[in-house]
Amino acid sequence: MADSLLTFDVSDRIATITLQRPEKLNALNDAVMEALAAAITEARERADVGAVLLTGAGRAFVAGADISELVDQSAAEGKARAERGQRTFRLFETSPKPTLAAVNGFALGGGCELAMACHVRIASESAKFGQPEVKLGIVPGYGGTQRLPRLVGKGRALQLLLGGEPIDAQEAWRIGLVNRVVPAGELITVSRALLASMIQHGPLALAHCIEAVDRGLDMPLDDAIALEAGYFGLLSATNDTVEGMRAFLEKRAPKFTGT
Ligand code: COA
Repeated sequence: MADSLLTFDVSDRIATITLQRPEKLNALNDAVMEALAAAITEARERADVGAVLLTGAGRAFVAGADISELVDQSAAEGKARAERGQRTFRLFETSPKPTLAAVNGFALGGGCELAMACHVRIASESAKFGQPEVKLGIVPGYGGTQRLPRLVGKGRALQLLLGGEPIDAQEAWRIGLVNRVVPAGELITVSRALLASMIQHGPLALAHCIEAVDRGLDMPLDDAIALEAGYFGLLSATNDTVEGMRAFLEKRAPKFTGT
């Protein structure tokens, strides 16, 4: 992993990925994207990791794709870059372990798209969100045209996509783009506490909730609830389900094993 571009620390089963390119407001160049893909892959695979916290060093979360790399790309290169980035962001979205974006500052373009690919977004009061791509004559390429309307609705998404202007953290919360807004000094503590509470739960239950939402959201309702019923049945046959229910009845904390 390219340590100079990001740091990767694990403590108390939470992997913290911190983008470390503050002088360029953590703009996503190809090298950063490669390091990000390696980091989320490692987090997904490591048995000592139960959840992932993603944040940025300095005054930005991510100020977008690195414009200096986009400026002279051909049509084929642009498409390939978008597809690579989309694959990397899907690793956050389909992670069986909860992923949380702790948005410490600018989350513009690819930064807003990266935050949206995480399961939960906590914003510092100073965070700013936006999809300014149209100002550069391009469209978002890392899923912004699709995840934004799914999160905030078509009308609000189009306002952000066509207007290109950023919104502050409170407005992002009001429209449902972020889950919570906290003072800057509390961002990491609150984010860690939320993940810590999630990873007390059964890991198979967490993974199947994530998968049911991810796969089911774009299915017809009857197909989606059939998928849910399948997972409900499947989990009934696991040790964790027995342990979770026994622990409740015996008035003790469950000890989940992920089996
Ligand atoms: N790509 C490449 N470099 C970027 C960048 C990006 N998306 N965003 C910021 N940077 C660089 C700036 O070029 C500058 O580098 P320099 O010091 O070598 O000149 C450095 O980061 C600091 O940015 P600066 O613009 O000086 O900070 P600011 O506080 O005046 O403005 C922003 C902050 C976020 C409003 C402004 O940087 C910006 O508009 N960035 C681009 C946002 C964008 O369009 N993202 C979508 C890209 S597809």
